Amino acid sequence: MIDIPGDLAEAQERYNGAAGRAFVAGLPDLAAAFLDRWRLRLDGPAMNGVSALVLPVVRADGGPAVLKLQLPDEESEGEPVALRVWDGAGAVRLLDHDPATGTMLLERLDASRMLSAVPDTRAAVVVIARLLAGLTSRAAPPGMRRLGDIAGAMLERTPRTLERIADPVVRRLVADCAAAVREVVAEPGDRLLHWDLHFENVLAAGRADWLAIDPKPLAGDPGFELWPALYNRFDAAEVRPRFDAMTEVLGLDRERARAWTLGRFLQNALWDVEDGLPVEERQLEIARRLRG
Ligand SMILES: Nc1ncnc2c1ncn2[C@@H]1O[C@H](COP(=O)(O)OP(=O)(O)O)[C@@H](O)[C@H]1O
Ligand SMILES: [Mg+2]
Repeated sequence: MIDIPGDLAEAQERYNGAAGRAFVAGLPDLAAAFLDRWRLRLDGPAMNGVSALVLPVVRADGGPAVLKLQLPDEESEGEPVALRVWDGAGAVRLLDHDPATGTMLLERLDASRMLSAVPDTRAAVVVIARLLAGLTSRAAPPGMRRLGDIAGAMLERTPRTLERIADPVVRRLVADCAAAVREVVAEPGDRLLHWDLHFENVLAAGRADWLAIDPKPLAGDPGFELWPALYNRFDAAEVRPRFDAMTEVLGLDRERARAWTLGRFLQNALWDVEDGLPVEERQLEIARRLRG
């Protein structure tokens, strides 16, 4: 009844191995169970990103919605919690949630109109910044993952990981970013962060121009939010202008925002090196341009 998109199966295999395979194999039954439990009817072809299967559905009262199925992990665990805090302001509304499986019923937005399709990238970056300003105006609820813990753990891992970087220029850059994070780690912030607000996680909606979907929330400083809009739709010459535009709209202290953005580079670089991969050139370019 449900076709599982091939790229979702591949991504699950690549990132989650056996657990990902099991998740994909169980998706038809999981979907059927929730269509039944929440009295939903399928209403169009399946959609997906890297981690979730999203099915357009109609509720018993005739209202459109989507059913989002994903493998629960520490990043996605906070998604329904954050969506409840935002309660539709700047983000998709949560209609129902099953904690045991992480399955969510969400308000249906217009998946045919993603912010990634807006040709004017500068305008799109301002949309992201405005959404972030609203989303991060809320204090994170108790129990959220904390940027302070994540940054502290990164700094602990850094010395050992640095030893594994052969290129001295890259090693220097990663060390400089760690030094920048060390300057701000004692004040990690307490706002509710989205963490993954890139252009494909912003959809048009009838009730608002643009709304955020797919948060991987944590409690922290809004300066930690800027990376996805620098990395996605990448343009080296636009790194600084985008950073400046976003800090302006969000009213952020530029130095602190710079440190936390370099913290995102550090997070990605540590993941890459620990996985035995080279640090991606695009990420190096962003870090170089922000370090100055
Ligand atoms: N509320 C929604 N309304 C309409 N389409 C949605 C909605 N949520 C997600 N989608 C579609 O499903 C895709 C994947 O959803 P997303 O929440 O971004 O999961 P992933 O973590 O896999 O990226 C989106 O890119 C979008 O096309
Ligand atoms: Mg997504």
